Amino acid sequence: MLTLLLSAALVAATPVLREDNIPEIVSMMTLEEKAAIVVGGASRAFDGIGRDCDPVKGSAGNTHAIPRLGIPFIVLADGPAGLRINPTREGDEKTYYCTGFPIGTMLSSTWNTDLVEEVGRAMGNEVLEYGVDVLLGPGINIHRNPLCGRNFEYYSEDPLLAGEMAAAMVSGIQSNGVGACIKHFALNNQELNRLHNDALVSERAMREIYLKPFEIAVRKAQPWTIMTSYNYINGIHASESPDLLTAILRDTWGFEGTVMTDWGGGYDTAAQVHAGNDMVQSGSDRRYFELIDAVKEGRLEVADLDKCVARVLKLIVKSPRYKGYAYSNDPDLTAHAAVCRKAADEGVILLKNRKALPYKGNVALFGVTSYRFIAGGTGSGDVHRPYVVDLKQGLSDEGYELYAPLDGFYTEYMKDEDWRCRMIDGNNSWVIDRERPIEIVPMDLIASSAKEAGEAVITFGRVFGEGKDRDLYHSYMLQSRERELLEAVSSAFHKEGKKVVVILNIGGAVETASWRDLADAIVLAWQPGEEGGHTVASVLSGAVNPSGRLPMTLSMRYEDEPSAPNFPLIYADKPFNYSFYRRLENNRKDMSVKDIDYTEYKEDIFVGYRWFNTFAKKKIAWPFGFGLSYTSFRWSGMKVKETSDGWEVTLTVKNTGKMAGKDVVELYVSAPGKDMEKPKRELKGFAKTSLLDPGCSETVTILLPSGSLASYDEDSATWVTEKGRYTLSAARNASDRGIRKRIRI
Ligand code: BGC
Repeated sequence: MLTLLLSAALVAATPVLREDNIPEIVSMMTLEEKAAIVVGGASRAFDGIGRDCDPVKGSAGNTHAIPRLGIPFIVLADGPAGLRINPTREGDEKTYYCTGFPIGTMLSSTWNTDLVEEVGRAMGNEVLEYGVDVLLGPGINIHRNPLCGRNFEYYSEDPLLAGEMAAAMVSGIQSNGVGACIKHFALNNQELNRLHNDALVSERAMREIYLKPFEIAVRKAQPWTIMTSYNYINGIHASESPDLLTAILRDTWGFEGTVMTDWGGGYDTAAQVHAGNDMVQSGSDRRYFELIDAVKEGRLEVADLDKCVARVLKLIVKSPRYKGYAYSNDPDLTAHAAVCRKAADEGVILLKNRKALPYKGNVALFGVTSYRFIAGGTGSGDVHRPYVVDLKQGLSDEGYELYAPLDGFYTEYMKDEDWRCRMIDGNNSWVIDRERPIEIVPMDLIASSAKEAGEAVITFGRVFGEGKDRDLYHSYMLQSRERELLEAVSSAFHKEGKKVVVILNIGGAVETASWRDLADAIVLAWQPGEEGGHTVASVLSGAVNPSGRLPMTLSMRYEDEPSAPNFPLIYADKPFNYSFYRRLENNRKDMSVKDIDYTEYKEDIFVGYRWFNTFAKKKIAWPFGFGLSYTSFRWSGMKVKETSDGWEVTLTVKNTGKMAGKDVVELYVSAPGKDMEKPKRELKGFAKTSLLDPGCSETVTILLPSGSLASYDEDSATWVTEKGRYTLSAARNASDRGIRKRIRI
């Protein structure tokens, strides 16, 4: 009896996890329990509740639960174009689709942080209502090279634009009481050999370009979590770097959240924990035992492990699952589809328009992609969306009449192509490029439609994603069949005095210079999410006036790209040899192959327009920040006022055209560049107007904090602001002189 009472008293005395007793809980945990909290749920050695609970099918992972201490598991799921979970469950008739939002690159093309925050709010609501605790997004690496397979998930070549977008997205997601995860920290700029590649980069380029978006997002939005990248940085694995994870991220930027590895990322578990990488995801038995052994053998201080455990517990107590949130499994997908469309509408970029648009009339719709629109990219960034509106559907819903014989022809052709693609895709892993319908050139119908239809619309599509970079000829350049189609349509329609519009339904930059003269209008529609066809149809008709701006430079030729000499180039005529690229998996001794084992960031801080503006005498196809509108705007009255913390720039934008529209003011700063090498100009702020009716004006305000003028000085390891005269230019894009004012430091 006495023993029973005693053990009952002991049980009663065991505390359960609360926000205010984390140190006490950590002190009560066994070494095994601590290892289990740090190593993700995919490790099964721990005698607790791990991956097997799998409460949200198709999520990426979870943490272990320790019921005796009142510690629940929490669920982590991808990201970043929407929540990625399985849409169906065995023995369950209900569906669990999630909204497929526009890709990251398209969201940044809106240059509208309020809108991106709204997307984040909708996305985060699905996270909450489907019982997930942390969304593994946004992805915020810099677009260093157009061939990086994951650029679609990322925002921009410019760190300020990427950082502002990231902060807005994180705020939106987290307003639901769920966590966001900015990834991949850091320099994950190529997919080839991604687990082993060593990014060799100067400290300055790292701080000013590659870490900057993360710094902005951390300082402005405090994401609950951050994911370390798969690669090495200057010889140290990102997840094993105390400098990156503790000195920079926590001690300098003030990050208060939890750090996790990418799935299976890194090698030395003890080194990761020592560096401040709190969670090792998705976890494995090997990792679990490695951690326990490291502590037992004295290779890892318990104090280091305890810090990580405490930070994971801090994440858990914030989670909806800890708080017992009763999720509905029923988010409002209709309302979120409207948000998706609104964002896509603003992310479309009109690259060229020679009186071809807006157009309403009979359309001859060409290109297999018009009939099978691409909503997003592949890999973990793909979303199981309930539907995708293609352009044919979008045009019909917008009231367009399609040239019927062509429509009938494609409908039949696509049936066969769908079947062929299904056969090939079969059980292929997501690392293999998704098979796409083969482009076709229907010569007779081109001739007849040129006589009978009003305009020709051709869509070209590109899809790619995680695990592989794009190949130059197949993905970046126009393919020979596509060129044939464009040439034939262009010649037939132009002979009849009719216009040709090209839609680019793509996940990243493509070559345009060699064919752009064949088109009268070019609409860059990116991968616009599930409502894509509606968005593009509204832009064609003029119901939506395009207001997107390029988040990267479009060069004339791939060879002109500053990073081209130091990026792995894949040619379609060389079969892709995965085993070669993965050969280093178990052997890091031979680190000798350029661009595969290591990649030198020789262009340094001169990424994208910073390069083209400063050095290249070469022409570019379209500058960073570029985008046309159906209306015209006049800018006037630029004022620069000094404030306690920098400068406030104001400018009045007036719609002088005939259609309502939005405009974007981009603020570039040119530094004296005498004591320090500086790019010719750098984006330091931007503002998008509201929808301005013809004749209406708005005064936009852009804040320029004084700290934003500083550059990283490697000798003193500090941020230094050069003295002298700075030019502030309110411009339409990175190549536009704009309206200028000078300030003196
Ligand atoms: C990707 C991450 C993703 C994780 C979980 C990894 O392969 O690199 O971006 O969040 O898988 O699915």
